[in-house]
Amino acid sequence: MQIGIIGSGNIGSTAAQLFVDAGHNIVISNSRGPESLSDLVAELGPNVRAGTVNEAASFGDVVLEAIPFGAYETLPVDDLSGKIVVSAANYYPQRDGEIDFDGHTQTELVAAHLVDSTVAKGFNTMYYETLRDDAHPDAPIEERLVLFIAGDDTNAKTTVARLIEEIGFAPIDVGSLEEGAHMEPGSPIYNEPMRPDAARSALADLRE
Ligand SMILES: NC(=O)c1ccc[n+]([C@@H]2O[C@H](COP(=O)([O-])OP(=O)(O)OC[C@H]3O[C@@H](n4cnc5c(N)ncnc54)[C@H](OP(=O)(O)O)[C@@H]3O)[C@@H](O)[C@H]2O)c1
Repeated sequence: MQIGIIGSGNIGSTAAQLFVDAGHNIVISNSRGPESLSDLVAELGPNVRAGTVNEAASFGDVVLEAIPFGAYETLPVDDLSGKIVVSAANYYPQRDGEIDFDGHTQTELVAAHLVDSTVAKGFNTMYYETLRDDAHPDAPIEERLVLFIAGDDTNAKTTVARLIEEIGFAPIDVGSLEEGAHMEPGSPIYNEPMRPDAARSALADLRE
């Protein structure tokens, strides 16, 4: 699969390594431009190329956005048109400034900006060191750590779930983008490494 990555920091670069290990082709980007990524792409190998944000967006069948939440309105609407966009961004007011969500969830705002994309929420609940160190593609699904996903489009979630399985985690569907509120900072399932049985039980408690 062709995967674009916007944001080459802790999450973007860690996910890039996992996607490459699973056999995918990547274009990765950041705010400073492709020349700043030469060391990273050399490290990641021949299936990874550095690009501009627009190039990463155009390249991906799936695009992972892993930038500070406060910058979501810079995501390129036209280049992401028709793409599955996975948003790993979390809102932290001290970093991102005050934002009026008007009752919406974090990823609903991203989806409202990316009007022509299919947006899912994912890769946002796990600390990047856990993502880097605890991928087990050869382990049975029930013995792996969970990466939660949410979204309004079943096909997009199926694609993202397959990707999560390929890189060595267990996908668990939290529900719609509205229900993705359960994945936001402060939730009991946020930044709490857990296996699928514990995750299902935690979600059942949250839904009560
Ligand atoms: N750290 C974690 O463990 C973790 C886990 C789950 C989710 N998250 C969330 O994922 C997002 C990224 O976190 P991180 O820890 O990876 O951050 P980070 O290490 O600070 O990296 C952020 C990346 O985003 C890029 N960037 C910033 N603004 C941009 C823009 N407008 N367009 C394109 N690229 C832009 C930066 O570019 P430059 O390199 O050019 O500055 C950098 O590559 C955040 O929303 C965070 O809350 C983080």
